[in-house]
Amino acid sequence: MAELNTLETEARTRIAAADDLASLDALRVEYLGKQGSVSLLLKTLGKMSPEERQEKGPTIQALRQAVSDTLADRKAALEQAALEARLASERIDLSLPAPEAPKGSVHPVAQVMDELAEIFADMGFSVATGPEIEDDWHNFTALNMPESHPARAMHDTFYFPDAGPDGGRMLLRTHTSPVQVRSMKAHGAPLRIIAPGRVYRSDSDATHTPMFHQVEGLVIDRNIHLGHLKWTLETFLKAFFEREDIVLRLRPSYFPFTEPSVEVDVGFAIQNGPKGQTRVLGGSGDAPEHGWMELLGSGMVNRRVIEMSGLDPDEWQGFAFGVGVDRLAMLKYGMDDLRAFFDGDVRWLKHYGFSAFDQPTLSAGVGARA
Ligand code: DAH
Repeated sequence: MAELNTLETEARTRIAAADDLASLDALRVEYLGKQGSVSLLLKTLGKMSPEERQEKGPTIQALRQAVSDTLADRKAALEQAALEARLASERIDLSLPAPEAPKGSVHPVAQVMDELAEIFADMGFSVATGPEIEDDWHNFTALNMPESHPARAMHDTFYFPDAGPDGGRMLLRTHTSPVQVRSMKAHGAPLRIIAPGRVYRSDSDATHTPMFHQVEGLVIDRNIHLGHLKWTLETFLKAFFEREDIVLRLRPSYFPFTEPSVEVDVGFAIQNGPKGQTRVLGGSGDAPEHGWMELLGSGMVNRRVIEMSGLDPDEWQGFAFGVGVDRLAMLKYGMDDLRAFFDGDVRWLKHYGFSAFDQPTLSAGVGARA
């Protein structure tokens, strides 16, 4: 018995003194390995008489358990210390520059759409979307352009050969205006939305591409009049071009879905920016080159459109507008060829693209600081 006690005390002392995992494992083999001293003691049990085994068995088993537990505790302690040492030595320096990795950039069209969403959100507009594969009814009929309406011819529409699920003709939407109808039908009134997206027309030259981008605006509420339209467009254009001296000119026009209709020109002067960009400067007459740029179509929503969208035009009125997003981007950021927007040339994007970290905000300035 005394011998076992000495063995246990010795084992505890040596295990506590082991200061790395390798020497600890050597001790494990020495005590509990096949030829280990504790293992050999356990083997003696076999040769004992039943009475003797009953007396000594529990003590030897307890010794084995004590050595095994002490080894496990020490191992855990050594591993914890090793982990702490590693954590202390392997510090990550977060101030180091990121490794050189390929960097993407935000396309000017996406940048401008983000800027528009930010500006209009501040005026209480939400962003709506509609399908690019549209039916004849939403794209034309509900916008007061029935079959045989002459305005349809101006849209150079891409039609699909097959009829849609409702039997109507299907097409690639020629403008974002059908989202007006879809939004009124889905959400009723009052309503304040912008609807940015792709539109398609069979047309192609330096200023026209078969696919381009528009943003539609729609406000439906009670007692809405032309003054609301003018204020909204002025506020939008001042925020977008980030200057207070933007001048607007409203000209009477015609769109089937608005009555009255106005076309909006923005006054501009041409100045060469640092990269040779053209900048919109407002229409002060003393600039070297100046004039009016036709920018967007708008008007008071035609009562027939409100009616076809399921609302009572005696109760609800509104205004709408449509702008070319690519055109807005060209004006603000100084590109001169629309086709380059869709070439997918990375050199162009490198020059005109924007950092994804440069989020448009009204407080920090909505425009990118390229
Ligand atoms: N949908 C027209 C187009 O593509 C633009 C437009 C004009 C939209 C007047 C409007 C509007 O909402 O009121 O040419």
